Amino acid sequence: MNIRAITLSLAAAALTFCGLHAERVKIDTKNTSLVLQADKGKKLKHLYYGGSISDTDASALKQAGAANVNAYPDYGVDPSNEPAIAVVHADGNMTLDLVVDNVSNRTENGAEITTIHLRDAYYPFTVDVNYRTYPDLEIIETWTDISHSEKKPVTLNAFASGYLPVRYGDVWLSNLYGSWGNEARLDCQPLTHGMKVIKNRDGVRNSATAHSEVMLSLDGKPRENEGRVIGAALCYGGNYRIAIDTDASNYHRLIAGIDPTQSAYKLKAKETFTTPVLALSYSNEGLSGVSRNFHHWGREKRMAHGDKLNDVLLNSWEGVYFDIKEPEMEQMMADIASMGGELFVMDDGWFGVKYPRDHDRQGLGDWTVDTRKLPGGIQGLIDAAKRHGVKFGIWIEPEMVNTTSELFEKHPEYVIRAEHRDPTYGRGKTQMVLDMANPKVQDIVFTIVDTLLTKYPEIAYIKWDANMPVRNHGSQYLSADNQSHLFIDYHRGLTSTLDRIRAKYPDVVIQACASGGGRANYGILPWFDEFWTSDNTDALQRVYIQWGTSYFYPAMAMASHISAAPNHQTSRTMNLKYRTDVAMSGRLGMEIQPQNMTEQEREQCHKAIEEYKAEIRPVVQTGDIYRLLSPYDGLGAASLLYATPEKDRAVFFWWKTEPFRNKQYPRVKMAGLDPARNYTVKEMNRVEKTPLKFEGKTFSGRYLMENGLEMPVNLNVDNADEWASRVLLLTAQ
Ligand code: DGJ
Repeated sequence: MNIRAITLSLAAAALTFCGLHAERVKIDTKNTSLVLQADKGKKLKHLYYGGSISDTDASALKQAGAANVNAYPDYGVDPSNEPAIAVVHADGNMTLDLVVDNVSNRTENGAEITTIHLRDAYYPFTVDVNYRTYPDLEIIETWTDISHSEKKPVTLNAFASGYLPVRYGDVWLSNLYGSWGNEARLDCQPLTHGMKVIKNRDGVRNSATAHSEVMLSLDGKPRENEGRVIGAALCYGGNYRIAIDTDASNYHRLIAGIDPTQSAYKLKAKETFTTPVLALSYSNEGLSGVSRNFHHWGREKRMAHGDKLNDVLLNSWEGVYFDIKEPEMEQMMADIASMGGELFVMDDGWFGVKYPRDHDRQGLGDWTVDTRKLPGGIQGLIDAAKRHGVKFGIWIEPEMVNTTSELFEKHPEYVIRAEHRDPTYGRGKTQMVLDMANPKVQDIVFTIVDTLLTKYPEIAYIKWDANMPVRNHGSQYLSADNQSHLFIDYHRGLTSTLDRIRAKYPDVVIQACASGGGRANYGILPWFDEFWTSDNTDALQRVYIQWGTSYFYPAMAMASHISAAPNHQTSRTMNLKYRTDVAMSGRLGMEIQPQNMTEQEREQCHKAIEEYKAEIRPVVQTGDIYRLLSPYDGLGAASLLYATPEKDRAVFFWWKTEPFRNKQYPRVKMAGLDPARNYTVKEMNRVEKTPLKFEGKTFSGRYLMENGLEMPVNLNVDNADEWASRVLLLTAQ
């Protein structure tokens, strides 16, 4: 191939050499490179994605046997391949033949964007394939802008965000699956021939089952801290599909985007269909290396207030459920304040006048305070919170309605339902989803938040819930022709409403809750500060749920609450230290009636919360994760560590996961420390009278990483149950 020009798009600078007929496009982060061949009039080819390569290597990639696979395959001319894009033109032609038109580079808000403009060889149909990098972040974002100027709408039947060929080999897929109360379960398997599809079609809560993120370990069975790994996260809150096609060629092909099932999109002339971002990351430091890359980027670019530490809170749900009463709310504020917490959140049950929200069968949609329960109204609660020195937060579920509500009585046309079909109800057998495709519904949702925050500017936190999937595909707003736009327009309506809310209320903290962990997704987080990781607060099961969630999401995003024993979801009884030690590895909070705790338990929590705020929170919420011992390995314990980027402090977590007598538990080697520095060990949330043998002792980072410390596997306290856990603070000298 005669390369007449090379375009090097570097994070910091773009160099274009003469001529634009043949271009090698190199997109670099500090440690990775993605290389494409973009010859004018020819197909865009993917050559390489992996660790950083030099320009010399890049220019000889083809000779080295690089992929040379279509980088954004279109359907039609060769229908045998799994396409990234498939359309039906206005004249009925079902083929696309996209070729490179030109390549451009621009800088936007400090990010470098490279766009390869593709055009159809015959039709006035274009696709811009975009790649964005940021200085100091190990992520390449890719997405497409699809547009045309044909005489009539073009139907888009497939519209992936990105496509990535990965060299065939002993490649393993790690992905997350699950269900309510058991979210983010880790699955791990070698890629074999055929197609692996990961998808969600809930319509609303797209991580309630499978997550829209995967990792591919390129060197055989995944390891946490070694080996080459590619991570891919589709940043979209709606239905998605990630497919990995392993055919008889030399490549596994990853295709990720909005799920096109029953979502054909009729694109009008001059309209641009922008696909969601697919974020890619590569690390040669194993799965945890990719996680660290995503966490950095997430905190800096994809979460609301990712630069601020999140508060320790008490949420009222498991404490009182729907039984909201003013004195109890105030008591809970006093209790969390006395334990060192910073925020009290009143959950479901506070609203509804004609149809009071005493249970889940009525009231959603009527966001007027129930003064039977709260005579002083919301202002009364805010005043009480001030008296107790904590902030105040409130629960809403604005995208939903109960048919037993004043809103539904007035506007039955606002719900999603198909004509000629019996309505399908969700929770309480009366819940339905409001049609966010409808601008009037968008206004209602905006107004719910706007009214609360205008009347009560001191509301510091909103828990935004969403407890139902789309059922009965049908929009009473969209035209008959555009019914297939429902899932996509729902999310456009939601995100544009969130844009309006954030434009007016940039500072309020908002939690994404969706029947627990249904909205752990980078398509949602730009407007949200955190998510409720699961409705399951059982500490043992949370070790697994939070392990999987940490693959892509930083601890500050993972709300993790100490709850009652026995646990309300699993009925398991675990000691308070273990429950606290698990909750402290995320954004710590409480989900309990403090009045049911003993004085000693409250004192224990108080001490733990103070330690969390002073020593643990800054490291865990903004530090680098090193997962050390997986609960999925079945070795009886799980362990991970967060270290500051400077490696001057680290917090080590160890939790027993199989409480068997005389079991041999592995000794955990640490990671992420500076081998040349010495670290002093201090146990956090210590409940035993006698300190651990290594308490206050100093060890080199090298020793801790090569040998680790022997964890005492039982708690030396009266009435100890079988569950033991340890949290150690390591401070460099
Ligand atoms: C589901 C959420 O996941 C819970 O935390 C709680 O807020 C309830 N909804 C309230 O109805």
